[in-house]
Amino acid sequence: MFTAVPPHYDLINHVITWGLDKRWRRQAARECLASQPGKALDLCCGTGDLAMDLARLADDSVEVSGVDFSQPMLDKARQKAKTVARGKKLSIVYGDVAHLPFPDGYFDCIGISFAFRNLTYKNPLTREYMVEVLRVLSAGGRCVIVESSQPRSRLIRKLFHLYLRWFVSRVGSLLSGNREAYHYLAESAARFYTSEELKRLLLTAGFCQVSFRPLFLGAVGIHVAVK
Ligand SMILES: C[S@@+](CC[C@H](N)C(=O)[O-])C[C@H]1O[C@@H](n2cnc3c(N)ncnc32)[C@H](O)[C@@H]1O
Repeated sequence: MFTAVPPHYDLINHVITWGLDKRWRRQAARECLASQPGKALDLCCGTGDLAMDLARLADDSVEVSGVDFSQPMLDKARQKAKTVARGKKLSIVYGDVAHLPFPDGYFDCIGISFAFRNLTYKNPLTREYMVEVLRVLSAGGRCVIVESSQPRSRLIRKLFHLYLRWFVSRVGSLLSGNREAYHYLAESAARFYTSEELKRLLLTAGFCQVSFRPLFLGAVGIHVAVK
């Protein structure tokens, strides 16, 4: 699905989130940097927006990496990386979450923006991915996940699902020309875990402490999991 990236991929993300995706990623980046990591990873970086936020907000000494297995996404991320100030340590690398190209315990923080759903929604490789994420995270390191969630209020949840299925699916398909991708996005987000279920998944995977902060009436949220 990510081998062909629509030319207006970033713009479509901004349209379907009313521009709020930028703010949510920035909040996730601040959460990543709160523990003052020496090395931070944007896992499944896509076009690299979280990696750029991390690089811009972090001290020059912090080493920031972005990893993804979609070459077209990486090409866009590398273009953006050129706009980040000199002196920043930022690298964008090719890699599959199933076999990350980093040594054990390399990162103090791993940020994942709007890709955890791809890694865990009906994905038979979820366990493998979680083992790899934990492997490259240092002891006490944090994994910060910004992702769609399920609003607690039944009414708001219903409205959110309607919005996904009627607006996101249609407008995304129309702007991208890829009906399948945006139908998948809408359906997987509507059926994705609640914050409690996601918390349980992370604890079962081996994280020892998980907290959750809802954003936008709980339609989106940030989980912070400590190894
Ligand atoms: C919905 S996009 C999100 C991209 C970006 N993080 C953002 O905030 O816009 C999901 C990304 O996950 C990547 N991805 C999915 N599964 C992956 C895997 N197993 N290994 C590496 N990247 C993966 C895709 O290539 C895609 O770029």
